[in-house]
Order: sequence, then C-alpha cells, then structure tokens
Amino acid sequence: MIKKAIFPVGGLGTRFLPATKAMPKEMLPVVDKPLIQYAVEEAAAAGVEEFIFVTGRNKTAIEDHFDHSYELEATLQAKGKSDALKLVKAMIHGPGAVQYVRQQQPAGLGHAVWCARHLIGNDPVAVLLADDLILGESCVREMAEAYDGGNMVAVMDVPFDQTDAYGIVTPGDDDGRIVNVRGLVEKPKPAEAPSTIAVVGRYIIAPDVFATLDSHERGAGGEIQLTDALAKQIGKAPFKGLRFSGERFDCGSKLGFLQANIAFGLENGELETDLRNWMVGRLS
Ligand code: UTP
Repeated sequence: MIKKAIFPVGGLGTRFLPATKAMPKEMLPVVDKPLIQYAVEEAAAAGVEEFIFVTGRNKTAIEDHFDHSYELEATLQAKGKSDALKLVKAMIHGPGAVQYVRQQQPAGLGHAVWCARHLIGNDPVAVLLADDLILGESCVREMAEAYDGGNMVAVMDVPFDQTDAYGIVTPGDDDGRIVNVRGLVEKPKPAEAPSTIAVVGRYIIAPDVFATLDSHERGAGGEIQLTDALAKQIGKAPFKGLRFSGERFDCGSKLGFLQANIAFGLENGELETDLRNWMVGRLS
C-alpha cells in the first residue's frame, strides 16, 4: 500500500507564460478544477494519506487552495449554498495530512523530489506531476495494485518523432501492460531513442532513489533528473513500467491543456451537449 505521495510543483512553467508569471501552472483549471486537485484526488483514490508538496516562490495559491477559506465558507453558509459549501469543505484533508517543503531554486525534478527526503521514511512513495493529467481510472491506483517492489513508472507509447520530449525506456520483457525497464534515457533524439515507450509523470520510487539523488548529478538541460537517478537503480532493484488505462494530457503545453479542457468538458454531464453542439457548428 502506498501511503505517501510527493507533488513537485516548484517548476517555472515557462511554456505557459504569461499565464504562469504570478500563478502556479498547477493551479490552471481544467473545466472547473485546478490541475493539482486532480492529482491529489487521483492519489487519494489509490489510498494515499499523506500529501507532500514541493513548492517554490509564487506557489502560495496551492497552499491556500487546500486550506479553509473562512470568508468564503461563511458567505456560502449565509446564502444557503449548501452544495458549494460541501464542495469546498470536502477538499480539506485532516490536520498534518498535507505538508509543504520548499525548493529554493528549480534545479530539476530529481532535485524537487530530493527536497522531500526528510519526510519520507523507509517505504516506497508515489510521485505525481500535476501537469500530466489523466482522464479515466486513477493511474496511481493501477500502479499501486501492480507494484511489487523496486521502482515503477507509468508509460505510454508515443510517436517516433516525439521521443525528445520524454524519458524513454529500453524495454525488456513486455506483456503489453507491464514492461520490464532495462534502461532509461531522458529526452533522446528520435534517431537515438531505444524505443517509443515514454515515461509519463507518475512514479512509485523506492527509498534508495533518495540516496542516489544525494549526489546532485546534473543531466539533460543541466537539471538534476529523476529519470537519471531511477536509471542508476537498474540491476539493483526491480524496475517496471505500467501502461495505464486512462488517457493522458500534457497540460504543461498549450495544445495539451486545450485538449484536456475539451475532453473533460465532453465528459461533464452539464456541459457535454452544449459543448458538442458548439464544436460541430464551429468546425463545419
Ligand atoms: P517541467 O519539465 O514541466 O518544467 O516540470 P516546468 O518548469 O514546470 O515547466 P516549463 O517546461 O518551464 O514550461 C515537470 C514537473 O516537475 C516540477 C514542475 O512543477 C512540474 O510539475 N518541477 C520541475 C519542480 O518541481 N522543480 C523543478 O526544478 C523542475
């Protein structure tokens, strides 16, 4: 059972400027919910009880989002808006369940995860990148159910010309759902990529990975990469990739974010018909 999850939210979100100048990318809403809330709910659905956010400057909106807003709650109460009141109260987790550590400089995903090391004991921990949004079953729950030690990443097959946007796996045994990871390289050019099996932003990592991250080795883009630390564990611990059942949207990119809003809108009972009709009219 995975009880803790790390949410690295210290990135600058430069692909989404100017929206992310003063506001965290993870607070961008898809339909009516910020990306970070989808990720927290996905982890909770997998049985996670402790939520660790690795934040940076300009990220206080995330802390506020998961705390009481007394003025709002009092107003909703006074106006008899009980559904809205229930909604905002339901997202508050128990005292101590949410923890924050600060990453003083965005030195990479591996560095962000390493910043949470003192909050992680000797158990495996999930890592979720909120800008990878998944429609469908909780990806972390699928991973937790399939996990049997070592490290695990969520994977999906990507077009050949997109390998340089992902960590790419050298596959071993592959039953179509679970693939043994024999190698892992960050953002290879298509000609150099060992496969088209890409890592998406869901991980279950063993505590040993934190010791590897201690070395602060820099990789692709001059950043401390989580994939490099995971690659170093190959041969020492089992390492598996899971093809999850949901659909993933790259909400760190403008196109992915727009696609996510449309896909989630079409899944929303209140919006579906009007959105579909508008789209048909617009595209014809
Ligand atoms: P990205 O690679 O998307 O980087 O990070 P970014 O800085 O957020 O966005 P761009 O590329 O400049 O537009 C993937 C995830 O890792 C976190 C981000 O917040 C995001 O969830 N991250 C990245 C950190 O927490 N710290 C870092 O130093 C880098």
